[in-house]
Amino acid sequence: MKKISILALSALVSMFVACGSPEKTESAGGSAEQPKSMVEEAPSYDPHRGEGKWTAENVNLNEPLNAEWVTSGESVSGVKCASCHKFSDEKLVGPGWKGVTTRRSPEWIMNFITNPDPMLDKDPEAQAMLEICLVRMPNQSLSDGEARNILEFMFKNDGKK
Ligand code: HEC
Repeated sequence: MKKISILALSALVSMFVACGSPEKTESAGGSAEQPKSMVEEAPSYDPHRGEGKWTAENVNLNEPLNAEWVTSGESVSGVKCASCHKFSDEKLVGPGWKGVTTRRSPEWIMNFITNPDPMLDKDPEAQAMLEICLVRMPNQSLSDGEARNILEFMFKNDGKK
């Protein structure tokens, strides 16, 4: 009588174990592969270029500088930028522009001045300046042409011919 009830009990236990385990292994195997492919697709930020549409290819540098663009860039800067930036190396609200074309790539400057916000959110250099200046440079709504002329003026200001 005792032997029979032990057999019945162990049969019952092994039935529970058998029902529970195969399902568990299946779902664990399926979910383990998902995160891997998501990591591979994440785009990485390029601190040399910054964020935006400007690249080393589409900035199109002039050699020698375009004198008309320099003049036009200087006058737009006087209206939209000079309240916060000196053309010397002296800081005003933002950093002085002297040497900016050697500190930053042309595409970094173009991306930053046409749309500063995304770069202030993720660019290490822009964030380091923000920590010192304590003012977020506002978007000055520059057209592509205005921005390109200002870049030409910055090169001239740094002594490029
Ligand atoms: C309200 C003040 C303000 C105005 C106006 C302003 N800026 Fe700025 N700018 C800043 C500040 C502050 C920084 C430093 C980054 C920050 O804190 O946002 C900066 C950073 C920069 C930098 C990066 C400098 C470096 O050394 O890397 C460039 C280039 C620049 N500004 C260009 C411009 C241009 C071009 C204009 C005009 C179209 C302009 N800024 C107008 C405040 C201003």
